[in-house]
Amino acid sequence: MRTVEVRLHRDFAIGATHPRLFGAFIEHLGRCVYGGIYEPGHPTADARGFRKDVLALVKELAPTIMRYPGGNFVSGYNWEDGVGPVAERPRRLDLAWLSTETNAFGTNEFIDWCRAADIEPMLAVNLGTRGGDAARNMVEYCNHPGGTTLSELRRKHGWDEPHGVKFWCLGNEMDGPWQMEAKTATEYGRIAREAAKMMRWIDPSIELAACGSSGRRMATYGTWEDTVLQHTFDQVDYISLHTYLNNYDQDTPAFLASVDLMDNFIEEVVAIADSVAARRRSSKRIMLSFDEWNVWYRTRRNRQARVKEGWPIAPPILEEVYDMEDALAFGGCCISLLNHADRVTAACLAQLVNVIAPIMTETGGPAWRQTIFWPFLHFSRMGRGRVLRTEISSPTYSARYNDPQGPVDDYYDIPAAPYLKLSAVHDDTAGTLTLFALNRSLDEEMPLAVTAAGFARLVVKQASQLCDPDLEAINSKAAPDRIAPKPLARVKVAGESVEALLPPASWNVIQLGV
Ligand code: AHR
Repeated sequence: MRTVEVRLHRDFAIGATHPRLFGAFIEHLGRCVYGGIYEPGHPTADARGFRKDVLALVKELAPTIMRYPGGNFVSGYNWEDGVGPVAERPRRLDLAWLSTETNAFGTNEFIDWCRAADIEPMLAVNLGTRGGDAARNMVEYCNHPGGTTLSELRRKHGWDEPHGVKFWCLGNEMDGPWQMEAKTATEYGRIAREAAKMMRWIDPSIELAACGSSGRRMATYGTWEDTVLQHTFDQVDYISLHTYLNNYDQDTPAFLASVDLMDNFIEEVVAIADSVAARRRSSKRIMLSFDEWNVWYRTRRNRQARVKEGWPIAPPILEEVYDMEDALAFGGCCISLLNHADRVTAACLAQLVNVIAPIMTETGGPAWRQTIFWPFLHFSRMGRGRVLRTEISSPTYSARYNDPQGPVDDYYDIPAAPYLKLSAVHDDTAGTLTLFALNRSLDEEMPLAVTAAGFARLVVKQASQLCDPDLEAINSKAAPDRIAPKPLARVKVAGESVEALLPPASWNVIQLGV
C-alpha cells in the first residue's frame, strides 16, 4: 500500500470532547443488573450487593455517564416499584424482554452504584405506558431537597440528600413498533414536550433528551426528528441516536466500512435539527445524544438468544461474544464519535455488563474483558481534549452493507471508504496529542505519515495496537487476555512528523508528548 498521509494543525479544531461522550448503559435486561453489577452473595460483593470485581473493571474502563434503567424496559417501568423496602417491592412481568423483574435493584441503588463507580447518572423516564405525571413525580422524588411527600419519601427510604440527576431521557425508541405503547412522531412530540415542561418546572437545572429515530433505517427516519423537534425544540437540549453495527453477511470489509454510516447519520441529524432551528430563526443548537451504539447481531435476530421461555429472572440473553473484528468496527465507532465532538456531546456504549457488553461475568464466578473493552478504554482515557481537523489522503474501497431493521435484508452502498479512519485529539493540559487509527485493509500493512503542524517537537509517550491474524479470536473465561493491546513498535517521530507502520486489520493508538 502506498503511504497514507495525514495533515493537521494545532490551531484547527472540530471541538472539545464533552465529558459525557464516554458514557455507557445499564438496562434491566438479562444479566446486566442481576449477576452483572449487582449480585449479593457473590464472593466479591460489598454490603450493598455490588460486585467489586465488576466495579474494578468499570473503573478501569472509565465511562463517564451511565444511562438507566432502559432501553425498551423503561417503556413499561413504574419507577415507584424500585424504591422503598426491598421486601415490599412488587414482582412484575417485563414485556420488553419477557422476563420477571424482582425490583430488588432500583433508582436509589443505581445512584449509589454510580457514586461508587464515580460516574454521572443519566435517567430515562417512561413515556410508553406512562407519561408526564409519572415523569415529573420521579424528578421530584430524585431531585427535590425535601418538604414534599415525594422528596420526604426519598429521605424516609434512606437518601437524605437529593440525587441531583442532571441528564434525563424522555422515553426510549418511541418510534419502534416493538416498544410498549410506541407512538407517532406527533403523539410523542406532544407528550415529550409536556413532560419536559413539568420536569423542568420542578428542577430548572436538568438537561433533557428527546427520542430520535431508533435507527437510521427506520421508515420514518428524518420526518420523525423533524416533527419531534418542532414540538419539543424549546424544551429539550438533545435529540438521541441509536446504532448497532452488524456482520450478518460475513463480509468483513463491508462491516468495517459501515462505521462511516455513523458519520452520515450524525451529519444528517445535525442538518435536520438545524433546519428546525432555521425555520424558527433560532440560534439555539440542539446537541446529539448517541445514547446507544455498539456492534450487535449474533444475539439479535436469533430468538433463542433474545428470549428464554417461562418468564425467568435475569435470563442469560443478548450475551454477545465479541471477536477481534468486532473490536475493529467498534474502534471505528469511537473515531466517528470523536470526529463529531462539536455536536455529539453525550454518548452511551450499549451496554456495560453481560448484555452486548465490554465486561462479561459468570454468576458466582469471575469477570473478564471482552475484545471491545480495549478500544473503549483507549477512547475514554485518551479521547479527552480538542479534536483536531485532519486532512487524510488514503486509498478507498467500495462496499455493500446489509443493515436490516427487521428480519428482511436491506442493502446500502458505501462507495468510498478510506482504508484509514483516524482521529487526533490534543489535550493541552496533559500535553499530549493522541492519534486513534484504524487500518481497514485486511491484508496490507499501512505506512502512515502524519504532519502535525504547530507542535514543534513531538515525542512518543506510548503506542499500542490491537490486532490478531485470527479475526474471530475472542476473550473468554478460560482465555481472558487472548485479545489485549500490544506495543506498536514501528513509530518514528522527528519534529512535527510522525511515521508508523500499521498492521493489516488493526486498531492503533499513538500518544505523543507535546
Ligand atoms: O440495548 C438493547 C436494546 O436495543 C435497548 O433496550 C433498546 O433501546 C434498543 O432497541
